[in-house]
Amino acid sequence: MTWHASILTLFPAMFPGPLGASLAGRALEDGLWRFDTHDIRDHGLGRHRTVDDTPFGGGAGMVMRADVIAAAIAAARAPEDARPLIYLTPRGRLLTQADAARWAAGSGLVLLCGRYEGLDQRIIEASGAEEISIGDYVLSGGEPAALVLLDACLRLLPGVMGAAESAREESFAEGLLEYPHYTRPADWQGRAVPPVLLSGDHAAIRAWRQARAEEATRLRRPDLWATHLAARMAGRRSPADIGGSVATASAGP
Ligand code: 6GU
Repeated sequence: MTWHASILTLFPAMFPGPLGASLAGRALEDGLWRFDTHDIRDHGLGRHRTVDDTPFGGGAGMVMRADVIAAAIAAARAPEDARPLIYLTPRGRLLTQADAARWAAGSGLVLLCGRYEGLDQRIIEASGAEEISIGDYVLSGGEPAALVLLDACLRLLPGVMGAAESAREESFAEGLLEYPHYTRPADWQGRAVPPVLLSGDHAAIRAWRQARAEEATRLRRPDLWATHLAARMAGRRSPADIGGSVATASAGP
């Protein structure tokens, strides 16, 4: 069954955008996923197809109307369609890898991209949309966030990734940042590759990579590091535990 994305937007020309190239683009050509866009403007009111209005209570900006968005959702998703409805908004919960894995395992998504100051709160509640953000910064609209969310899902669909990339995904799954990578030349502008990587000692290489992954996570992402340590203490076995190469370290800076 083809994984199906429906995108509600005022800017349908933004899709598939970058998802028409590279891994996702090949998968689209191969029929591993499909998408359709629904122009919210088609459901606008009056001669000007108005989709927004001024906010009750005053203030800057415009708010997208609940009745217009309701009509757009109804056109994109039949009542028996079980796909989750996601509203992309900086007010949403942060997107995670677990979200992408869960959604990739389903039949697809309906993505609602807002503009202006956002949507009337009542359509968010009435539609049961899940509010998702991709990070703590403000984009001009939900479209780039929808592209990011889709990319995270699409690469997890069966047949989209090659075996090598699939294997790397598993090494990242324990919640650590990746270790650094090196390739030829072994010496470049006086910078040598870490000698252990040229040693042929696979156990030593595995230990070195584990240590670098933990170091990077601890220094750059104390939040991820704390979660990783908590999971480890809760008895969840990681490859690191089994390998016995884990240095003890405290959470946070
Ligand atoms: Cl989902 N939308 C907008 N407009 N800005 C964002 C975002 C979404 N996630 C982070 N910033």
